[in-house]
Amino acid sequence: MKSPRLIQIAHEDPRAVRAELLAGLMAPTATIAPKYLYDALGSRLFSAITELPEYYPTRTEAAIFRREMNDMARAIGPVSTLVDLGAGNCEKAARLFETFRVQRYVAVDISVNYLRDSLACLQREHPEMDMLGVGLDFSASLALPTEIGDGPRCLFYPGSSIGNFTPAEALTFLRQAQAASLGGALLIGVDLVKPVGILEPAYDDPLGVTAAFNRNMLLHLNRLAGTDFDIADWRHVAFFNGAESRIEMHLEALRDATVRWPGGERRFAAGERMHTENSCKWQLDDFAALLQQAGFSRLRHWTDENGWFAVFLGFAAP
Ligand code: AVI
Repeated sequence: MKSPRLIQIAHEDPRAVRAELLAGLMAPTATIAPKYLYDALGSRLFSAITELPEYYPTRTEAAIFRREMNDMARAIGPVSTLVDLGAGNCEKAARLFETFRVQRYVAVDISVNYLRDSLACLQREHPEMDMLGVGLDFSASLALPTEIGDGPRCLFYPGSSIGNFTPAEALTFLRQAQAASLGGALLIGVDLVKPVGILEPAYDDPLGVTAAFNRNMLLHLNRLAGTDFDIADWRHVAFFNGAESRIEMHLEALRDATVRWPGGERRFAAGERMHTENSCKWQLDDFAALLQQAGFSRLRHWTDENGWFAVFLGFAAP
């Protein structure tokens, strides 16, 4: 039986991480990058979010794949290499292996440690398949290692994580994906604009799981940056910003609070907010235009019956 190869591209330098976080904290509107939502507990909380009745994206996307997988496979053709961006437990990609006739599977996530167990398990189920785990922060740069091989690749980016980029960042990312596919394709999940009454509860659920996910970021920051945030001082705020077509998540100070760290501090007045995440919601035509701008052509998309979510396929123009 083959065994998965594992490659860690680079671990972020803790001093650089601390400097980035403190610069964000000192900005006029304090801002923390959404990737810091995902420590071990944050990843578990996100997993719980995907099971909430209000959080429609995960199950809506899954239903699209269940219904349209054969049509997608016909449109893509046999996939020699499937590159799964943000693979996590590799579950979503594994559902495609048979129908897409995948020969080589490359799971990419921020740390190869997140992939080790899932890949070992998958390899047992698919003993003949080449499997590679790559630890890479592709939100910074999508430079895939040469070990993947040099044929065309199908990049798979489900979950609507593209929404956590601003439109300008999304374009940069898609251009990198176009280059990284080596003349192959991109299959990507995109969350679409819908009524505010559906959007806002998905990001501010009555059980408070999303609030815990957002507030947990402060505990993560305390460990990474040496800050002394008291989570009791902060509440979760999420709303749809129609002008920017995005859900915004913030943490709002419930009272005047001073946050200290070795060598510095920041005072927050009651009601002041830190911006922690954007989740952009796209119109079908706008996302198609973005893909074209990034160099993808022969676009196809599949949606659910409500038109809430879309899976796009684009081919890297030769
Ligand atoms: C990972 N990402 C696509 C999620 C989203 O919907 O933007 C993260 C999330 N934030 C709050 N709930 C879920």
